[in-house]
Amino acid sequence: MSDQLIIFDTTLRDGEQSPGASMTKDEKVRIAKALERMRVDVIEAGFPIASPGDFESVHAVASSIKDSTVCGLARALDKDIERAGEAIKPANSGRIHTFIATSPIHMQMKLRMEPDQVLEQAVAAVKKARQFTDNVEFSPEDAGRSDPDFLCRVLEAVIDAGAGTLNIPDTVGYNVPAQFGSLIKQLRERIPNSDKAVFSVHCHNDLGLAVANSLSAVMNGARQVECTINGLGERAGNASLEEVVMAVKTRKDIFPCNVDHLDTTQIVSASRLVSGITGFAVQPNKAIVGANAFAHESGIHQDGVLKNRETYEIMRAQDVGWSDNRMVLGKHSGRNAFKTRLKELGVEFDSEAELNEAFARFKELADKKHEIYDDDLQALVTEAMESENENIRLVALKVCSETGETPHANITVNVNGEEHTSSSDGGGPVDAAFRALEAIFDSGSELLLYSVNNITSGTDAQGEVTARLKNKGRIVNGQGADTDIVIASAKAYINALNKIQADAPRAHPQSGDV
Ligand code: KIV
Ligand code: ZN
Repeated sequence: MSDQLIIFDTTLRDGEQSPGASMTKDEKVRIAKALERMRVDVIEAGFPIASPGDFESVHAVASSIKDSTVCGLARALDKDIERAGEAIKPANSGRIHTFIATSPIHMQMKLRMEPDQVLEQAVAAVKKARQFTDNVEFSPEDAGRSDPDFLCRVLEAVIDAGAGTLNIPDTVGYNVPAQFGSLIKQLRERIPNSDKAVFSVHCHNDLGLAVANSLSAVMNGARQVECTINGLGERAGNASLEEVVMAVKTRKDIFPCNVDHLDTTQIVSASRLVSGITGFAVQPNKAIVGANAFAHESGIHQDGVLKNRETYEIMRAQDVGWSDNRMVLGKHSGRNAFKTRLKELGVEFDSEAELNEAFARFKELADKKHEIYDDDLQALVTEAMESENENIRLVALKVCSETGETPHANITVNVNGEEHTSSSDGGGPVDAAFRALEAIFDSGSELLLYSVNNITSGTDAQGEVTARLKNKGRIVNGQGADTDIVIASAKAYINALNKIQADAPRAHPQSGDV
C-alpha cells in the first residue's frame, strides 16, 4: 500500500496574501467548508496576529470545521504563537505553523540575526507552540536559498523540540525541479532524526515551476504538499491544489503515494467559489479548472474522443466535478428548497432575516433568469453576505448608450441611510457609471483591473465583474454580479469602495516588521 499524501491548503492564508484577495470571516468559513467537503487534510486558515479580524476568522474556521485539521500561522515569536494557539483552540484537530527565515539574505537583511540566534529562536518557538498543541509544523522560510548544512542543523533541532512536520518552502520560487527534489532527498538522508517528522513542501510559482517542484519533492520523500485553490498566493501564487492532486491521482503508476482519500469531484465548485469570492478569475486554459480544460475544439480531437475518450483525455471531467453544476432551482422553487441547496453547498444563515434577504435576492434573479445554477447561488450569497456590512449601496442606475452618442450615467447610492445622486458622461457606459460614482465619493482610486466573466453559459447568464482599485497604496478587489453587466460593474465598484472604507491595518507575516 502506498502512503497517503497530506494535502495542506493555504488558500485562506498565503492565497489571501495576493493583493486584493482578502476575505471576510464568513467567506473564509464558506471556503473552509468547501475544502472540508473535498476532505483536504489541513486548512491553514490565516495569520491570527495580523489583526483582530484575522484572529476572528481563524477562530471561526476552527469552530466550524470538524473533519480537517485547522492551522494558524505564527512567526517564531511568543506573541504570535500565543495568538495562534488561542485562535485554533475550538478545533477538533488544531495545528500551529511557526516559521523563521534561514537563508543568508533573509537572516542578514530582514531579521538582522546571526544563524545561531535563528536556530535558537526556531527551537524556542517550536517548544512554545507545543504548549498549545501536539501538532506543530516548522518552516525555515526561504529554504530554497538556504545553506543545506545550516538547514540540517535547524531541522534536526526543531524535530528534537517537538515539530512533527517540517515544511520546506521555496519562498521566492527560485528552485527548479531536479534541484528541489534533491534538496528534499538530501535533508531526509542527512538529518539523523528525519524519520520522526513528515516532510512537507511549499512552492511559489515565480518561474511557473511550483507544481513541478512540489511533485519532484514528492518523488523524493515529501509527504505533505502545501497548495492553494487556483494556485492563488503571494506574487505569482503557490502550487495549485487541483494540479498537484490530479497529477498524483492520474499518474498513480509513478507516484509513491496517493490522494485516494480526497473527493476530487469537489474541485471545480471550490475553484469557482474561490474565484467568485476573491475576484481572481481563472484563465480558460488553466489546467483542471479552466473553462477549456476539457473542451475539444478540433474536429480530429472530437472524432477521437467520440470513438474512445482516452484517445485525447487523460482524466474524466466528472472526476473533478465539471458536470456537477446542476440546475437546481427556478422561479417556482420555495424557500425551503433554496435553504436546503445552500446548506448542501456549505452555506448556513445566522438568522432568519439573513435567509429572507438572500431569498428575496434569489426571487429577483429568478424573474430575470429561468435556470439558477449552483454558481449563481454562490454569487448571490457572496453578494448578500458582503452587502450586510456595507455602508454604500446601489439604489438606482440609468445608463444611455447609443451609436454616435456620448454614453451617460445617472446613479443614486445610499450612504449610511442618506441618498446621493450624480451623473456623468464617459467613454462607455461602464466608464460613465464609474465617473458618476467618483463624482460622489472622490476616492482618488486608480482602477487597476476590470474584468467581466459569465457565471454560467447563455445570454441570460449573470456577468460577474471584478473592479480592482488601488487607494493610498492598498489594493482591493470589488465584485458584483447581475444579468446586466453595467449594473454588475457599478456594484463591483461600490463593493471596492466599501472595502476601502472598512480598511483595518493588518500585519503581513513575511514583512519582517515585528
Ligand atoms: O512562502 C513562504 O515561505 C511562506 C512561509 C510562511 C511558509 O509562506
Ligand atoms: Zn508562501
